[in-house]
Amino acid sequence: MLTDNVVSLLADYLHKTATNMTGTMDQLFSGHHTWSRVAREHMAQHGVPWHLMAYFVLALVLAFVYHLAFTPLNRVRDLTEVGWGCLGDDVVGKNLGERIREVHRLRKKGNLPPVYPNGWFAIIESRKVAVAQVVSVQAFGETMAVFRGEDRLVHVTDAYCPHIGANMAVGGVVKGNCLECPFHGWLFRGTDGACVNIPYTAKAIPKTAKVKRWESREMNGFVFVWHDAEGREPEWQVPEVHQITNGSWSYRGRTQHHLLAHIQEIPENGADVAHLAHLHVPSIFKGADLRHIFAHSWLQDLAKHNWNGEWQVRAEPESHIADLAVKHSFSLLGGKFKVLNMTVRAEQIGPGVVHLHFNTAVGSGVLIQTVTPVEPLRQRVIHQFYSSRFFLAPFSNFVLHSEARHFERDIMVWNNKQYLSQPLLVAEDRFIVRFRRWYSQFYSENSPKFSFQKESLDW
Ligand code: FES
Ligand SMILES: [Fe+2]
Repeated sequence: MLTDNVVSLLADYLHKTATNMTGTMDQLFSGHHTWSRVAREHMAQHGVPWHLMAYFVLALVLAFVYHLAFTPLNRVRDLTEVGWGCLGDDVVGKNLGERIREVHRLRKKGNLPPVYPNGWFAIIESRKVAVAQVVSVQAFGETMAVFRGEDRLVHVTDAYCPHIGANMAVGGVVKGNCLECPFHGWLFRGTDGACVNIPYTAKAIPKTAKVKRWESREMNGFVFVWHDAEGREPEWQVPEVHQITNGSWSYRGRTQHHLLAHIQEIPENGADVAHLAHLHVPSIFKGADLRHIFAHSWLQDLAKHNWNGEWQVRAEPESHIADLAVKHSFSLLGGKFKVLNMTVRAEQIGPGVVHLHFNTAVGSGVLIQTVTPVEPLRQRVIHQFYSSRFFLAPFSNFVLHSEARHFERDIMVWNNKQYLSQPLLVAEDRFIVRFRRWYSQFYSENSPKFSFQKESLDW
């Protein structure tokens, strides 16, 4: 069965390829090539070769299917692209961005917890920082310069140069394991942030010439930064997934989303097992728009998802980890025919990292979810998927694509909801209470609070 999404992807792919082909054909046929003249004369005599065109379309469709099944997925959705679609007439604004800003401004915020918890957060994917490259990254309302030295190690510093404030990630040059500012050429060492060269002074370098360095660690395909409102050293680490490090599992793709909600809403989803059995039951063929997924459709209703979950906190010294065990099956013919049975073990590691371990009959894999607050109520969420060789590439693509579709349903809820510090819960919602108690360990005395004045919403 082809979903609307697949059909639109296919249409897009065919359109792009056809546009390229048409351009090329135009060039060839309008030129003075002898063979193009021959082809035109041939078509004038014998008509259009429809069977050749049919082969051409078939080849395009096969190429598309191959692309869909075997190329690692890269699904990037911007803030305005997912989770809206319900902006009523009373929302003013000329364009979608303005209308979203208005919805966000009018939305009741509730009694929010602090906005930047303490812990490890992914600030960029490893593959996006090459050797001797510097990248500007936003997280926790800060701008950072992330660079990979010539010894391949990644360093993270404040982006703004302490000299006169240039952004060193914009035009800065990596020299050895240092970063040179583009404005006056001051050179800062990645390992401790100290300035080691001022090219035009005869005097000694002032001791205070130093840029703030963020504690960072590269792991499982991401660069993580330790954020702690009290300035404490890391108290725990993100566990290494050995199959990624030793290469026995392959990279299968990524998804990237931005959304407008408090960070705590996203991991709370794991403890909210009741929502699985409602929001995520309609099959992915029904898409991610909440206005349509519950509408009756006899064909699409034949497929559905079934969920069952248990959430619990680990004991010391791993109390920063919570486990969610989920049984998921995807069934056809109204639930009678189960085509996919999966046990998913999700580890919530601190406030912003989840490892979802999949085990299926065709192999195993891990989906890594990282949530990073860019600003108080705006999160950047990246998923990367790795799987064993037997976890066939098309199947991996299907899993990642399905996960993204389900996640986009949550985004539509998060983008529009209020945070309730005292929700109205029933006994079956007990994991939510436990989750909030557990998550509060990532806030401390100086954790920044939400301020209506400070928040900016420019994109
Ligand atoms: S602003 Fe960076 S060297 Fe002057
Ligand atoms: Fe969800």
